[in-house]
Amino acid sequence: MVPATEMARSGLQAQPGLQQSGMHSSRSTPKGSEFADKWTHEPGMVFLNHGSFGGCPREVLDAQSAFRARMEAEPVRFFVEELQGLMDETRDAVAGFVDCDWDDLALLPNATTGVAVALENIALKPGDEILVNDHEYPACLNNVRRIAQRIGAKVVKVTLPWPLPRDNAEQSVIDAIIRGVSARTRIALISHVTSPSGLVMPVERLIAELKPRGILTLIDGAHAPGMIDGLSVRRLDPDFYTANCHKWICSPKGSAFLYVRKERRDRFRPLVLSNNAELPKPGRHQFLTEFDYIGTSDYSAVLSIPAAIKAMSAILPGGFSAVMRHNRDLTLRARALINHAVGSAPVAPDEMIGSIAAMLLPSRRDGAPPSTRPPTSRYGDPLQERLIDRWKIQVPIWGVPGTPQRVLRISAQIYNSFQQYEYLLSAIRHELEAEQR
Ligand SMILES: Cc1ncc(COP(=O)(O)O)c(C=O)c1O
Repeated sequence: MVPATEMARSGLQAQPGLQQSGMHSSRSTPKGSEFADKWTHEPGMVFLNHGSFGGCPREVLDAQSAFRARMEAEPVRFFVEELQGLMDETRDAVAGFVDCDWDDLALLPNATTGVAVALENIALKPGDEILVNDHEYPACLNNVRRIAQRIGAKVVKVTLPWPLPRDNAEQSVIDAIIRGVSARTRIALISHVTSPSGLVMPVERLIAELKPRGILTLIDGAHAPGMIDGLSVRRLDPDFYTANCHKWICSPKGSAFLYVRKERRDRFRPLVLSNNAELPKPGRHQFLTEFDYIGTSDYSAVLSIPAAIKAMSAILPGGFSAVMRHNRDLTLRARALINHAVGSAPVAPDEMIGSIAAMLLPSRRDGAPPSTRPPTSRYGDPLQERLIDRWKIQVPIWGVPGTPQRVLRISAQIYNSFQQYEYLLSAIRHELEAEQR
């Protein structure tokens, strides 16, 4: 057992679960940063996967509880009199954060819905092509495929270079996507930050390439707000931009937005029509009225976005920008540490990394391709299960199309400490060695 004083100095905390498991009876897990207590993570868990579902500080969860209490205290007043104004306050806060006009925003539960509703609103015709790439998020691709099948449109999926070439990496991505364009391409779906591979895509340049070709752009910015410092939807100027706030803005789960370019708002409608569809309000655009209320639901997550922006902005003296810079810096340091130790070259230049980063690990010993999900497996790869069960580390191990190696994707949020990545490295080394035996 590590003595208590030494544990305190090294940032380690006793991990009873591990002692009970008998696997590593003397192991303790490293603590997160000095800000970790603002979150409610399970004690002892080394949480290195903010990217998948985000994480919400206590203070923001309290703000959400207050909205719920207000709703339950007088539900009729809440929905009839108060909800619209509260939705506008949230639109205002989001618009200020991502730089766009407040009335171009629909508030939604998640980015998957944002992609689905945008696709549904573009009047595709048989033979039209929807351009995607092989690093897009599966749920979004499912929505693309379904609408294409229904309409008789074609999904054109291009392969991104992977790992990216050391030189001209951004250009190689742009070239790959533009190669998929044809005279029939109607819309392109592009992640701002790719999920499996953590690439910050050159979306500004891509939009500038696609627009003059008459191609609509649907940007899936699921990870971008709160990760990409200086994000400006106005400057990017896409047709549609959807993003989660529950990832890197750290609002409660179920809070996202969809930006729709002004000229496209007139006939733009939700997937589900509520009472408001037949109740135009004088002086209020139908786009707003319809998206204000899409049936009875718990809107408290969306309404808590302003509280999340405020809470995250108050952590460091430099505001939210300082948090984003800190997270990116921690990601790059952790990536360099792990890549160096396992002998992997970076999959992308630093300029294309935000606060998630993918790294190549050796292929599976059993020869199975990465990211297959056997029915007996809780996660995509047994290595991920061992990291959870033996080491109490939550971090994804999966595959990226086109490579046989497994991919480790780390996230860095202000609650993480560098020691947690050193601990991850020792766990990975140990488990990879054990695999070889
Ligand atoms: C790039 C990307 N798009 C879309 C999503 C879907 O997010 P949600 O499940 O919140 O809709 C994710 C989630 O990880 C993602 O990484």
